[in-house]
This record gives sequence, C-alpha cells and structure tokens, in this order.
Amino acid sequence: MSSKKRIFSGVQPSGNLHIGNYLGAIANWVKLQDSYESIFCVVDMHAITVPQDPEILRKKSIEIAKIYLAAGIDPKKSLIFIQSQVSEHAELMWILNTIAKMSELEKMTQFKDKSQKEGKEGAAVGLFDYPVLMAADILLYDTQVVPVGEDQKQHVELARDLAKRFNNKFGDTFIVPEVHIKKEGMRVMGLDNPEKKMSKSAESIYNRIELLDDAEMIRKKIRKAVTDSGSEIIYRDDKPALKNLINIYSSFSGKTPKEIEAMFVGKGYGDFKSELAEVIIAFLESFQARYNALSDKEVMKILNKGADKVRPIARKKLDEVKTKIGFIV
Ligand code: AMP
Ligand code: TRP
Repeated sequence: MSSKKRIFSGVQPSGNLHIGNYLGAIANWVKLQDSYESIFCVVDMHAITVPQDPEILRKKSIEIAKIYLAAGIDPKKSLIFIQSQVSEHAELMWILNTIAKMSELEKMTQFKDKSQKEGKEGAAVGLFDYPVLMAADILLYDTQVVPVGEDQKQHVELARDLAKRFNNKFGDTFIVPEVHIKKEGMRVMGLDNPEKKMSKSAESIYNRIELLDDAEMIRKKIRKAVTDSGSEIIYRDDKPALKNLINIYSSFSGKTPKEIEAMFVGKGYGDFKSELAEVIIAFLESFQARYNALSDKEVMKILNKGADKVRPIARKKLDEVKTKIGFIV
C-alpha cells in the first residue's frame, strides 16, 4: 500500500442527487482525493434493499458515476466502480453476518426510519442487514477513513465494532476505520422546510435543487423557497430559512455570509433570491456541461477499469479472511 491513507465512500443509485449531496459529500471527496488513496463506489446492492425498477437502476448507476466525474473525481487519482461488479462484497458480508448481532442491527436508526412504512415485519431482510454490507464495503479495502454525512456515522461505528470483534476472534485482519464527518455548515436544509435536511426522498420536488435541474426549474424552486418573517437579508440562527439560502449562496460563490449580507443591504428577498438562482445556475451549467460531455460508453469503461483494479485488493483480503475462519482457499 502507498503511504497515503485510504478512504472509501459511496452513494446509492436511487433518487436524484441534489446540491446537498454535492456540497455535503461529493465536493468533499473531490478535495480529499489529493491527499488520500481514494475509492468511490456506486452502491447498487444497497439500493435494492428497497424496490427498484431494473431499467432505472441500471441508468442511475451510470448517472451517479457521471456525477462523480463531472464533480471532479479524477479517475487518474481515484478508483470508481459499481459495487455489484465485485462479488467479494457479498461474500465478506456473509461472513460478517455470522459475527454481527441482531441486537446491534435493531438499534440502527436508518432501519427504524426506512422500515416504518411497511412495519418491521414486512421489511426486507436486506434492509435490516444493510449496515453489514456497508461494513464489508469498508473493511475489504483496509479503509482508514470513511467520509460520510452525520446520518451514516452509526453504520461506520458498526463497521468498527465488527472489525474489532473479528480481529479478537481470529487475529489481526481488519483495519479499524475512522469516520470523517463534514462540517455542520455543509448540511443543506430543505427549501420547503429549513428544519429538515434536503433529501432525495422528500416527496415535494420543491424540497431540493437537483444537480441536473435546468435553469428555469432552478429559478422556480428558489422563488418558491420558504423564507422567514421580515425583509432584510441577515444571517441569523432565528432565521433558519434565510440562513440556509445564504449558506447555499456562500458555498457556490465563495463569498462569506458577512459579504453577502453587505451586498444586499437595502434590498429585499426578491433581489436576493434572483441572484441566488443565478449563482446556482452558473455553477450547475458548467457542471452539467461536463456531465453531458461524458458518454455512457466512456463511463462504463472507467467503471470496468475501476472494478478490475479493486477486485484483486478485495480478493486478497477475502482470501485472508477465509483462511482465518477455516475455509479452504
Ligand atoms: P443519501 O442522499 O442519503 O444517499 O446520502 C448520500 C451522501 O450525501 C451522504 O454522505 C449524506 O450524508 C450526504 N447528504 C445527503 N443529504 C445531504 C444534505 N441535505 N446536506 C448535506 N449532505 C447530505
Ligand atoms: N449507506 C451510505 C449512504 O446511504 C452509502 C454507502 C454504502 C457507503 N457503503 C458505504 C458509504 C461504505 C461509505 C462507505 O450514504
């Protein structure tokens, strides 16, 4: 292994990625790829823990990879691949399933949230087991650091616990990974409700700006975004809707909230919102130009190459694990 630390992260190819995913996760990876040996995965095996349309899933997997690339993940520096193309993930998950405990998985808040609709009894076993697959993703590559959002912290902690448990039982095998959470400022809140984070699964499209939205849609969504009472452009905790919009302005323009306040002295929400929309459009137009310039064929070539490169790393670790537990390899 090189002297750089290794990071691993992934996004599910379900729903439409939004500026929260970009600012909270992918933009962070782009920065990290210079100082870490980076592996970024399209986690389609996680996506099928809730029902997916097969054709849409296939399209989305390529779409996520294009988004990684358009955002600046550089295949010369980082490896990107599709999870289901490297079967070692499923194999290691099975082995980890035999040391993970029901009680640990029952504590996972994501399972509790996602199983709410159907009830625990109707939820797929895969949804329950989701965190063990994520542990396999991480542990297969001797990952040292896992950059994710706050919501995934509990899952990374499970990966740490499973690594330690396995090591205790069978001897040193896995690196115990650290979680890397982005700064609070990078949490983008819903445009329709600043109390909840912007989300792929929010019912209303007016909750989020999607990375592939066109200019007209962005203007419309920003116009409809909720604001607080009053008319001044000020950055304050008791004005959460405005604070969120100023944060977004700041992230895409590089200006500080103070500078933004100063720019809009004597102006109202209308002026601020139309400039905010233009700032987002300017960023997304160049992002989308890079996205559209990528052909499916070219992206599949990068993904296949990525899978070919990670497979031997995964295979080596899996063989070590199999040997330790008494399988014949
Ligand atoms: P998800 O959309 O839940 O699959 O999350 C994919 C990645 O984006 C994870 O690392 C999340 O923590 C991050 N993420 C999702 N929504 C937001 C948001 N509103 N603000 C910041 N980061 C987010
Ligand atoms: N569960 C993560 C999410 O929804 C995605 C994911 C799957 C992941 N495997 C991973 C993230 C391994 C980091 C490391 O955001």
